[in-house]
Amino acid sequence: MSEPVSGPPFEQPADFEFTAENLERAKAHIAKYPPGRQASAVLPLLDLAQRQSGGWLPRAAMDRVAAILDMAPIRVYEVSTFYTMFNLRPVGRYLLQACTTTPCWLRGSEAVVAACKRKLGIGIGETTADGLFTLIEVECLGGCVNAPILQVNDDFYEDLDGAATERLLDALKSGTVPPKGSATGRGGSAPFKGKTALTEPPDAAVAAGWTRNPPGAEKQGEKEDAG
Ligand code: FES
Repeated sequence: MSEPVSGPPFEQPADFEFTAENLERAKAHIAKYPPGRQASAVLPLLDLAQRQSGGWLPRAAMDRVAAILDMAPIRVYEVSTFYTMFNLRPVGRYLLQACTTTPCWLRGSEAVVAACKRKLGIGIGETTADGLFTLIEVECLGGCVNAPILQVNDDFYEDLDGAATERLLDALKSGTVPPKGSATGRGGSAPFKGKTALTEPPDAAVAAGWTRNPPGAEKQGEKEDAG
């Protein structure tokens, strides 16, 4: 179950305006939809507003999006409170989203979450005192093939265990952002124990000297062709 970010009281900015650059981006999103359907651009506009605001969505930003799209503010609040991608209070520089849905859980997400808690000294929904990390728990991120997944801001870190998670957090703390992707070097969604498809021999079989065709198979085929 996803839990919202918690923390001490914070101040909402009094107003919000898109930068000139983001306003152009917002107009480009709105132009993708027919006249009268500009509300369809609410998600990309909220995303723009959140990025401009340092990773969270102030109330004033939601109101500005509502005004631009000619929507009732409550309709925009409904969207921003539904999706976990929107943060309604300030978050750390690195937003850690730990997936704990079944495939990630079966592949060790508990160790990933435990490593985050142990290393950072925070619980789910909390932010470190230095403002570097916020940890939240999320539902399936759509990367189950390389589970377990920890999303850091926009990037997926995959095939993690406790030790790999601690190394990742150490690197981020020291100001280094490690390459995203599989911690084990697995390419794409290849089986983690090597190939298992019958179209190519499994790695273990190759090591044992096996080939796709058993000895004599070619001769048998030749005989059949000749017959
Ligand atoms: S269950 Fe974690 S990415 Fe799908």
